[in-house]
Amino acid sequence: MTQPIDDLLSIRDLLRYAASQFAGSDLFYGHGTDNVWDEAVQLVMRSLNLPLDNNTVFLDARLVRDERELILNRIQRRIESRVPLAYLLGEAWFMGLPFKVDERVLVPRSPLAELLESGLQPWLGEQPVGRILDLCTGSGCIGIAAATVFDNAEVDLADISPDALEVASDNIALHGLEDRVRTVCADVFEGIEGRYDVILSNPPYVDAEDLADMPEEFRHEPALGLAAGEDGLEIAHRILAGAAAHLTPDGLLIVEVGNSWPALEAAYPDLPFVWLEFERGGEGVFLLSARDLAQRARVSI
Ligand SMILES: C[S@@+](CC[C@H](N)C(=O)[O-])C[C@H]1O[C@@H](n2cnc3c(N)ncnc32)[C@H](O)[C@@H]1O
Repeated sequence: MTQPIDDLLSIRDLLRYAASQFAGSDLFYGHGTDNVWDEAVQLVMRSLNLPLDNNTVFLDARLVRDERELILNRIQRRIESRVPLAYLLGEAWFMGLPFKVDERVLVPRSPLAELLESGLQPWLGEQPVGRILDLCTGSGCIGIAAATVFDNAEVDLADISPDALEVASDNIALHGLEDRVRTVCADVFEGIEGRYDVILSNPPYVDAEDLADMPEEFRHEPALGLAAGEDGLEIAHRILAGAAAHLTPDGLLIVEVGNSWPALEAAYPDLPFVWLEFERGGEGVFLLSARDLAQRARVSI
């Protein structure tokens, strides 16, 4: 990486160089891409503000010096500091939509994107959706994506981190949704008012053992977004305890708990969790209806 580099490098040359450098390094992929080549394409093309699709027309275009230096610098930082690519670019993609991200928020990667693409079908049926809560919103990706699917719904993006809420606000503005999407500072349901037709959440759910074993890339993400106690269920327990009081009678609760799902299921043998399946990967996302929750908690709905 320290050798002199010819001035007349093309995009193709830089893609090849990035791919070779990544392949020879010990990187973890899982913050938006899952292999060397996609990581190289995303780094090079997005550093040049070029699209990720239909971009072969640019392959033999040569770079000006500033562009080349920016890309080489990002390749080096990706390898030496193990910074997730999304933070180097300042952007991530979720359900095909762009989001601003930085180290104040997790890099969006929830399988909930796939569920939202389907309009929450078949689970939602014909139920109208007037209010949606994205609890533990981070960048706001889940709630903002939901707002684009349910284009009449009012959406609250809630998080305990004021830093994360600043990023979420920027993303509301990026998508021009200020008229019906807002941020709320809340500690799980403390700070949340009223009832919602749908509550979506990708809360912190990494248990202590998994947290200790995570690749270096995850150390750049806010610990508040990952850690959830010894068994990873600290926040999930609080969501289950409070959700019935914040759902409409036909409401749905959909929560991602990842690898912590067996522990959660064992802790609530009476709850009829529906564990969702995803074509593009991901696991540990459950769905419960307001009625299932209320029955168990004996909370009137
Ligand atoms: C796993 S991240 C998910 C972010 C986003 N939903 C996504 O999918 O990319 C979890 C988020 O929960 C927030 N959080 C942690 N503890 C919380 C709490 N007690 N109440 C509300 N939000 C919390 C963190 O600040 C973080 O933004």
